[in-house]
Amino acid sequence: MHHFGNEELELLKQVVESKRLMRYRGGENGFTMDFESKICQRLKVKHALTLNSGTNAIYCAMTAMGIGPGDEVIVPAFTWVATPMAPLLAGAVPVLADIDETLTIDPADIERKISPYTKAIIPVHMGNTVCNMDAIMDIAKRHNLLVCEDACQAAGVTYHGQEAGTIGQTGALSFNMFKNLTCGEGGMLLTDDDRYYERALIMHDAGCYTRDHAAQMQEKFFPGFNFRVSDFQGAMLCAQLAKFDGFISGLKERRDLVRSILGSSQQFELVTANDPDGVLSVNIKFPTQKDAAAFKEKHGTIFWIESGRHVYTNWTPVLNKSWWDERLNPHKFARRTIDYPLDACTRTLDILTRSAAVSFGYSMPLSEVESNCRKLLQ
Ligand SMILES: Cc1ncc(COP(=O)(O)O)c(C=O)c1O
Repeated sequence: MHHFGNEELELLKQVVESKRLMRYRGGENGFTMDFESKICQRLKVKHALTLNSGTNAIYCAMTAMGIGPGDEVIVPAFTWVATPMAPLLAGAVPVLADIDETLTIDPADIERKISPYTKAIIPVHMGNTVCNMDAIMDIAKRHNLLVCEDACQAAGVTYHGQEAGTIGQTGALSFNMFKNLTCGEGGMLLTDDDRYYERALIMHDAGCYTRDHAAQMQEKFFPGFNFRVSDFQGAMLCAQLAKFDGFISGLKERRDLVRSILGSSQQFELVTANDPDGVLSVNIKFPTQKDAAAFKEKHGTIFWIESGRHVYTNWTPVLNKSWWDERLNPHKFARRTIDYPLDACTRTLDILTRSAAVSFGYSMPLSEVESNCRKLLQ
């Protein structure tokens, strides 16, 4: 959200004063549990588990859904590097799919990349956009695949009225410093599925078999990590959630203003969104790379191709298929050779070279948003 102040400080102080800094407080509900029940209501999802990162939220989604050695998971070639790393950490291998002109995974390329070993798709709602979820869910249903939505960059985005992260069998949010809701570092797994939720609870809390809730659980316990958050993070997130509606409406007002001004440009087009009412960002695109380069020269605009580890060509450890211990390398368990040549997704590279985000914050004065847009039209 990029805005935190007295509301967050007040709740953080309450955590200090309570002297109970962890999320599990011996039967007493803290801020983290409060946040989880509120976000379940707000996003209309049955279960929400707060974790210490979005990366671990995707990892827990993978392992909760039973994805592991020998499986393939389709991911877009344009996403933060954690998206392909999460299935790798679960023992599966990522298979790259191109994006389309909406800057999100191309459903037609998903279909092309499906093999007999594909188990899941991770559509990514990049930069407050949204994927074509109708097409993706349809493909998943026809091919019997699971869907984990990576909504790390899209908390509060909707797709035809449904919240990003709640459409697939699982979804992941990130609460790192740059995200729509933040507690510095953090994440969340969303699911309507009781079993996936229980498996994530176990994975995130050293097996969780001694917790109060363990007695009610159906799932067999297994060893897990410690991906828990402290109640400081829960407190921050409670304060952030109270301001979230204002944050979203602020972004939507600016989004509409940007669209109304830039829609008249002769030099570029607005990127079409899969749900224009639900997204919280505006992107522009140029017909050719040459046009984009000329615009960059004139305006100093940063194009998506320059977004570092969001572009697959910069995913060095993934592309190299390297691992900390070769005996555990997921590619050893893969049922066919999957390589990642630099030209694997040239269509993605072309689109990213021609596309850029229009930057605006939820509280940026409207006059500033307007003058920034007018400058882009000069
Ligand atoms: C698309 C996407 N996926 C996953 C992540 C991972 O989230 P985190 O940084 O909380 O681990 C991020 C965070 O930057 C992201 O942008």
